[in-house]
Amino acid sequence: MMRSVQPLRTVRATRYVTPLREGGSLPGLIEADDLGMYVLKFRGAGQGVKALTAEVIVGELARRLGFRVPEIVLVDLDPDLARNEPDQEVQELLANSGGINLGLDYLPGAFDFNPVVRDPGPDLAARLLWLDALVLNVDRSWRNPNLLLWHKDVWLIDHGASLYFHHGWGPDWRPADTYRFDPKDHVMLPAAGPIPTSVDVPAGMLAEVLALVPDEWLDGDRTRYTRFFESRLANAPRWIEALEAARAARV
Ligand SMILES: Nc1ncnc2c1ncn2[C@@H]1O[C@H](COP(=O)(O)OP(=O)(O)OP(=O)(O)O)[C@@H](O)[C@H]1O
Ligand SMILES: [Mg+2]
Repeated sequence: MMRSVQPLRTVRATRYVTPLREGGSLPGLIEADDLGMYVLKFRGAGQGVKALTAEVIVGELARRLGFRVPEIVLVDLDPDLARNEPDQEVQELLANSGGINLGLDYLPGAFDFNPVVRDPGPDLAARLLWLDALVLNVDRSWRNPNLLLWHKDVWLIDHGASLYFHHGWGPDWRPADTYRFDPKDHVMLPAAGPIPTSVDVPAGMLAEVLALVPDEWLDGDRTRYTRFFESRLANAPRWIEALEAARAARV
C-alpha cells in the first residue's frame, strides 16, 4: 500500500529572540507565526545549505529508526527581521538568510546530556553508535555530544556535520567503499553494548526522508544520497566489525 509522505511543516519567523550560543553556526531562538519557539539554523551561516540538508536527512531518518528528535520544520524568514537587531553579526546572518531555513522545536529546560550523570543504557548507546557510523556523523564526541536530556529522555540534535562527502562532490562523484569514521571519542563508546548487525533501513524509508529536503537546498538531485546509503548499507558488515572491535577494546 502506498503511504503519502507528510511534508515538513512550514512556519514563518515573526521574532528573533536570542542567539543560542556564541560560536558554532550561531543558531538563534525564534518565535514563529504558530506561536512556537524554534532553534533556527540559518541558511546564510558558514556551513551553508548542505548542513541544513544533512539535518533533515539524518534527523528524519533517526526519528524513523526510533530515536527521539525534536520536530523539524521549515522556517520562512523575511530578511527584514534584521532591521531591529542591534548585534551586527546577527544582523548579517538574518539579512543573508531570506527564504527557507531550518527550525527545530525548542525543548525548554533541556540539559546537555552527560553519560556520567545519566547512563543511556547499552542498547541506546549501541544503536546511536551504529546510526552515527552509518551517516558519518563526526559530531557526537564526549566533548560536544549534541544530545539533550529532556523529560528524562535522550534527544538527538545537530546533524549538520553528517554526510560530509557532499561538500566535495563533483559531477563524477560516486560513493566510496570505505569512509573515515573514528569512534574513539564518541560519547556512547564506553556505554555501548554489542553493535547491532541487522538494522533494517527500507528503501522506502530513505526515499521518504529524501523527499523532505526542499528542492532549493539540493545540489543536483537526490539520487546521489540514495546511492551513498545503498553503498554504505551494503558495506555495513565491514564498518560494523570495526565499530565492534573499538567497542570491545573499551570494555
Ligand atoms: N531543540 C533544542 N532545544 C533546546 N536547546 C537546543 C535545541 N537545539 C539546540 N539547542 C542548544 O543549542 C546549542 C547549539 O545547538 P547546535 O548544537 O544544534 O548548534 P551548533 O551551531 O552546531 O553549535 P555547536 O557548534 O556549539 O555544536 C546546543 O548545544 C543546545 O544546548
Ligand atoms: Mg552542536
